[in-house]
Amino acid sequence: PVLIVDFGSQVTQLIARRVRESGVYCEIHPYDKAEAALFALQPAAIILSGGPASTTEDESPRAARALFEAGVPVLGVCYGEQTMVAELGGAVETGHHREFGRAEIAITRDSPLFAGLGEHQQVWMSHGDKITAIPEGFQVIATSSGSPFAAIADEARQFYGVQFHPEVVHTPHGAQIYRNFTHGIAGLSGDWTMAAFRGEAIARIRAQVGKGKVICGLSGGVDSSVAAVLIHEAIGDQLTCVYVDTGLMRLGESEQVVSLFRNHYNIPLIHVDASEQFLGELAGISDPETKRKTIGRLFIEVFDREAGKIDGAEFLAQGTLYPDVIESVSAKGGPSAVIKSHHNVGGLPDFMKLKLVEPLRELFKDEVRVLGVELGLPPAFVGRHPFPGPGLAIRIPGEITPEKVATLQKADAIYLEEIRNAGLYDQIWQAFAVLLPVKTVGVMGDARTYEDVCALRAVTSTDGMTADFYEFPWAVLAKAATRIINEVKGINRVVYDVTSKPPGTIEWE
Ligand code: XMP
Repeated sequence: PVLIVDFGSQVTQLIARRVRESGVYCEIHPYDKAEAALFALQPAAIILSGGPASTTEDESPRAARALFEAGVPVLGVCYGEQTMVAELGGAVETGHHREFGRAEIAITRDSPLFAGLGEHQQVWMSHGDKITAIPEGFQVIATSSGSPFAAIADEARQFYGVQFHPEVVHTPHGAQIYRNFTHGIAGLSGDWTMAAFRGEAIARIRAQVGKGKVICGLSGGVDSSVAAVLIHEAIGDQLTCVYVDTGLMRLGESEQVVSLFRNHYNIPLIHVDASEQFLGELAGISDPETKRKTIGRLFIEVFDREAGKIDGAEFLAQGTLYPDVIESVSAKGGPSAVIKSHHNVGGLPDFMKLKLVEPLRELFKDEVRVLGVELGLPPAFVGRHPFPGPGLAIRIPGEITPEKVATLQKADAIYLEEIRNAGLYDQIWQAFAVLLPVKTVGVMGDARTYEDVCALRAVTSTDGMTADFYEFPWAVLAKAATRIINEVKGINRVVYDVTSKPPGTIEWE
């Protein structure tokens, strides 16, 4: 594997993505735990990430000495390059001008890091500090107009540094640079595939669970579904799934999940229709946080009641993903504001004393999708847009009624159908309708109408942390709007949300 040492860059996870796409397993660990990770992981190569600090400050994060003494190739990226230079005897100064954005490097010397690449490469720079002298043993292998040390190498020790960010899309051949590092330089073979992962994961689940019984809480989403299918493949009917139907899912989705699991996979499934309880307790609540907390509490209550009926269960399966597991360096800076309370992160209530089975802990979302297809789940099912735990409740600002849920489900289904028909579904990270508690005047036929407004939202994103509103072809929006107004009783006006994140959030509540 490859050890990625995190110095707090916003794009450290992208390094991991590029490395894994080259078929090499890697893990991200914070810089102050890198030494422990070195011993635990025994990596064949190390990558030092970028980060917001400056090596010219006394307190700035450093790479542990042991990383350079492990006898394996090291690649420093941006801050990673600077800290490597500072620690190995070179010099870094606070820059007088920041270099930010697209730049072109010229490769000035043959190096396996740039194998197969042309002499001029477009790259993405984002740094304030500047290297002014490189340590003994290093040579410059590429320059740019702003960075005389754009890339450096000590080929004997296999230490490399790049001032730019090969992990972002704005460095078009960045993936090749990581591949050159992991395959060409570190000699890794690239045999980490989802097919291989499937086999290993099954063996691990069997070893952990033995003859024990496992409960899996299905949410209807991709992660818990893939986890359930994988676990079922490992231990068969020792697994029971519990699907808590909140009544707040997209149109037809509950039926789809239940039929997929029961009929297609033959996985034991308890379908709890708790929609009356959820909608009953939500009646009269319009504050977004109270809604979220109510749903979270109910979900646990209902799930716990059903799980308690399964005799002798010892394990609880969860679809936890790698981004939830990575210890973040940037989060250490201080308490970050709670924007929304997500009910499905945070795990078990104390009274459920079950051991956790989390077979997807090492995977990123799109790896889970590939694994899902590998396990025979329909591509359209695993490719669905993310859906929040509290469901449609947070897409109905104000009070929730069963009638409003039904209205929203219809509008949302039409919107998604038109997006699919236009072939745009996979370009969009998330698209959905919101039912506003606002009535406006319209005219249909020759009559006055006074009905609700439906807002449409669609965004592009890589991880949901930031997002841009999607620029639809007008014709697609117009068709969706016309159909919604004609086909959904109670809606007479459709608007499109052109807010990006930040400053907006993706969901409206
Ligand atoms: P926001 O609205 O915070 O959403 O920009 C970012 C992403 O998270 C999803 N989301 C949730 N997912 N439970 C979830 O599982 C929640 O409570 C929740 N709230 C927001 C949202 O759909 C988007 O993908």
